[in-house]
Amino acid sequence: MTHATLSTASSLITQFSWPELTGLKVLDLACGSGRNGLWFLSQGCEVTFIDQDLSALAELTHDKAHQWQWNLEDGSAPPLPQESFDIVLVFNYLHRPLFPQIAASLKSGGLIVYETFTWQQAQIGRPRNPDFLLTENELQSVFANWQPLHYFEGRLSDAAGTESAKAQLIARKP
Ligand SMILES: C[S@@+](CC[C@H](N)C(=O)[O-])C[C@H]1O[C@@H](n2cnc3c(N)ncnc32)[C@H](O)[C@@H]1O
Repeated sequence: MTHATLSTASSLITQFSWPELTGLKVLDLACGSGRNGLWFLSQGCEVTFIDQDLSALAELTHDKAHQWQWNLEDGSAPPLPQESFDIVLVFNYLHRPLFPQIAASLKSGGLIVYETFTWQQAQIGRPRNPDFLLTENELQSVFANWQPLHYFEGRLSDAAGTESAKAQLIARKP
């Protein structure tokens, strides 16, 4: 694990006031570089990384890291294991048919941590395809009966000053 990778974890994660994380089971769905899951690995969690392309994690060897190279959209992957994770991370990825599986993969009391683009992103940049853009308050609707710990919807600036339109949700499964 490199410090460069750790430093790129989302501020939603690095600034949230987490309880004791050691030993928790975390899923980083559509993980890309794994930047967010790697942060949880550094906190002593057991982290499962899923993506159709895990080449960015080729160098990662850690007894608490699991890598599942799955295509989540073409029907080739098994369903996500149910009631298995304490925390599920989904960043910059939206495939609506997965919402029920994502919810089912969390244990009761577990946390969904979701951040991705909203419909307003189409006015300022990519992605513009509505299939990849949340509608207004969509995350709140999908996880409606969950206990919200954090919700944001609006414009965010990254470290380079680039603006994006995003929604963020951290919510606890009943
Ligand atoms: C914009 S990147 C976000 C990566 C990471 N979550 C982050 O925020 O740094 C979207 C990720 O979704 C993955 N992805 C896209 N379609 C996928 C599919 N059908 N199955 C699995 N992963 C997919 C891509 O490989 C890519 O790593």
